[in-house]
Amino acid sequence: MKLLLLNGPNLRLLGTREPDIYGSFTLADAEALAKTTAEKFGATLDAFQSDIEGELVSAIGQARGVYDGIIINPAAYTHTSVALRDAIAAAGLPTVELHISNTHKREAFRHVSYTAPVCVAQLQGFGLTGYALAVEGLVAYLNQH
Ligand code: DQA
Repeated sequence: MKLLLLNGPNLRLLGTREPDIYGSFTLADAEALAKTTAEKFGATLDAFQSDIEGELVSAIGQARGVYDGIIINPAAYTHTSVALRDAIAAAGLPTVELHISNTHKREAFRHVSYTAPVCVAQLQGFGLTGYALAVEGLVAYLNQH
């Protein structure tokens, strides 16, 4: 089983970015946790981060036939991107939307997700742990479908 982890804009700044909201862990910590969790469940995981919407769209488009499922933290594009939503729908791969913070406790503009309706699940508010939980959930989903 091959999984792809995508992180969107500004998530390369984890560790120093608004630590009261996002914690003090780094992107490398999140990617390492996702990888070790995947391996624990007999899967492999590749990770990619980009600040650029089109690069994330391309990564999703190229995932078809290569990966079995995707975990994506689309960051701010969650709330704006028809292109990412269409890419997830077009790829047809089971996708989990992940957020570090609980967006529903935050500003109203974060309460809308363009991408969640085309994902199999959405997970948010667990901080770094979410990266492990999302992998575990996606592996279980893929084993059942
Ligand atoms: C985020 C939540 C988004 O609203 C925000 O734009 C982010 C990070 C999260 O992981 O909590 O950049 O996706």
